[in-house]
Amino acid sequence: MATTNVPTSFDSILNEERVFPPPKGFSRLAQIKSLAQYRKLYRESVQSPEKFWSRQAKAELVWFKPWTRTLKWEEPYSKWFIGGQLNVSYNCLDRHLGTARANKAALIWEGEPAAPGKPGEERILTYKQLHYEVCRFANVLKRNGIKPGDRVLIYLPMVPEAAISMLACARIGAVHSVVFGGFSAQSVADRIQDSQAKLVITADGGFRRGAVVPLKQNVDDALVLKDSHGELLTKTIEKVIVLRRTNNEVQFQEGRDLWWHSEVEKVDAHCPAEKMDSEAPLFILYTSGSTGKPKGILHTTGGYLLYAKLTSKYVFDLRDEDVYWCTADVGWVTGHSYVVYGPLANGATSLMYEGAPNFPEPDRFWRIVEKYGVTILYTAPTAIRTFMKWGVEWPQKHDLSSLRLLGTVGEPINPEAWMWYNEFIGGKRCPIVDTWWQTETGGILISPLPGATPTKPGSATLPFFGIVPEVVDDYGRPVPRNSGGKLVIRKPWPGMLRGLWGDPQRYQQVYWGEVEGSYFTGDGSRQDKDGYFWIVGRIDDVLNVAGHRIGTAEVESALVSHQKVAEAAVVGRPDAMKGQALVAFVTVKSGVHADAALREELRLHVAKEIGPVAKPDDIRFAEMLPKTRSGKIMRRLLKQIASGTEIKGDTTTLEDLGVLARLTQVEE
Ligand code: WT7
Repeated sequence: MATTNVPTSFDSILNEERVFPPPKGFSRLAQIKSLAQYRKLYRESVQSPEKFWSRQAKAELVWFKPWTRTLKWEEPYSKWFIGGQLNVSYNCLDRHLGTARANKAALIWEGEPAAPGKPGEERILTYKQLHYEVCRFANVLKRNGIKPGDRVLIYLPMVPEAAISMLACARIGAVHSVVFGGFSAQSVADRIQDSQAKLVITADGGFRRGAVVPLKQNVDDALVLKDSHGELLTKTIEKVIVLRRTNNEVQFQEGRDLWWHSEVEKVDAHCPAEKMDSEAPLFILYTSGSTGKPKGILHTTGGYLLYAKLTSKYVFDLRDEDVYWCTADVGWVTGHSYVVYGPLANGATSLMYEGAPNFPEPDRFWRIVEKYGVTILYTAPTAIRTFMKWGVEWPQKHDLSSLRLLGTVGEPINPEAWMWYNEFIGGKRCPIVDTWWQTETGGILISPLPGATPTKPGSATLPFFGIVPEVVDDYGRPVPRNSGGKLVIRKPWPGMLRGLWGDPQRYQQVYWGEVEGSYFTGDGSRQDKDGYFWIVGRIDDVLNVAGHRIGTAEVESALVSHQKVAEAAVVGRPDAMKGQALVAFVTVKSGVHADAALREELRLHVAKEIGPVAKPDDIRFAEMLPKTRSGKIMRRLLKQIASGTEIKGDTTTLEDLGVLARLTQVEE
């Protein structure tokens, strides 16, 4: 694939004119069957939002107590279904028990396989069984002192217990914060410190390509980490519950650490769902921003669940007989809304896979699709580009005829990858939903509805019900069709974040301080003549690396925390596979030898500080960084150097960059 067609490049999608109408047979059976039907509902949803959402909330969710007011909007805070009471776990589990779905598979779990040709471990939990496990574990949490409103940190591999933990928290009104299993001890400590969590749920280890990720060890390390004044970072953790998964040896601290399997023996499965206020916090999920400190995105109960449920139902066109597979980890928001809450609230069968797409062989995904008869597959463009590179022989080894719908999320999809996905995975019969959204938005905001919206490769197409996006200039004025600008959302929606945990000022400033009266997404976009949205990518200092949002400032602060580093600047460069790659420019302290060994040491250091996802792809040493007189690093210049554009010649060496830096000292 040509690197000029990177997904963030504007030109590659400007000329895209192919249109794919929904297949007739698909539309006939779909929830929304035509563009006209979509437009009619959409119009109502934005003209009378309260009427629309109130009707949906009544139809879709079970409430213990009805609400008295649908929406209270005081920018930048929205409250939905005020006075209403409900429980998320009840809506995902109990409500299905009296129905034909009670013995339907809620979760199908495929573990990482041991070796080529060997099947992975497998577990299937019906709604009844999942309910039983959730109730028992909820009682374990209660027994260990967890009360409504307490924060619980979940640091687990992709195993059913991750979903069980989330639902158990929701059941008793505790607020979960899931930390991706690929994050480091430092990240765990930072998140415990910020959320003031009382309890950690982890595992002895997690399997990853045959190796064991030492999760419990990381928690142990996190709990003794100190800040620069020698103060313990985490003082709030009372209990650590440990799931046995990999059987590796772990240390246990008497009185603090408990085995999951022993704890559940001590409780029964009777656990009524707590009646929660519609605006009670459901979870905090940390995500990168353009400063060093991750943001704790807060989502609440009623609005979030309704939005996750409704988007799952319409965007994935869920039917009872579907086997739905979203490949995201529960550590990301996609895993929250579209592995656990959205599908289960709809009574769907949701598949979870523990391992990597190429372990033990590159046909792992296609083997799973064939084995379970997956009908809906939701994955990331970076994965699709990787499959393209591995070759069509891997999907072609398997019968993929069960698939009826494909989805993508996380970054712009380049038209080549879209066409490949359509042809070699979807067999040209499956619509593709390119879903644009963010951790902050709770659910999908811009996406085709598969039975209604004609798709164009590379475009997320049109807004979901109730969503009013617009492309604006620096003054907040709408730009003409086909011009680029900032993507904003003009009206509140039920799934929107309710703020940043413990930081109202940053919430106001980052999301509401940029464009007056609007939620600023941080993305650039354009609308074509048909009103379709084409997302260009981030326009701030946040990068999208293989679908993961990484703040350059966060990587910079990890680098400068290394004793040999004086200064660091991190920028992105286009990458054919990952969308963007991380390039770090580093100046070392005097007397330090900048060589390949140090480069590797720094990469490992960043992995330790943040996690392997944030490891720079490229580290370039420099005598000094190009700065303005006032000392601001000229990132624009570094970006050009990193992507090899405009500035000619070899800039990878220390001396060249030093020269360049001296040459580019300019006034601000
Ligand atoms: C950022 C949000 C949404 C769950 C996964 C990532 C980019 C996401 C698309 C898409 C173009 C996309 C945006 C957005 N993004 N989906 N379909 N087309 N860009 O969640 O970590 O909060 O990242 O991902 O830049 O702002 P996240």
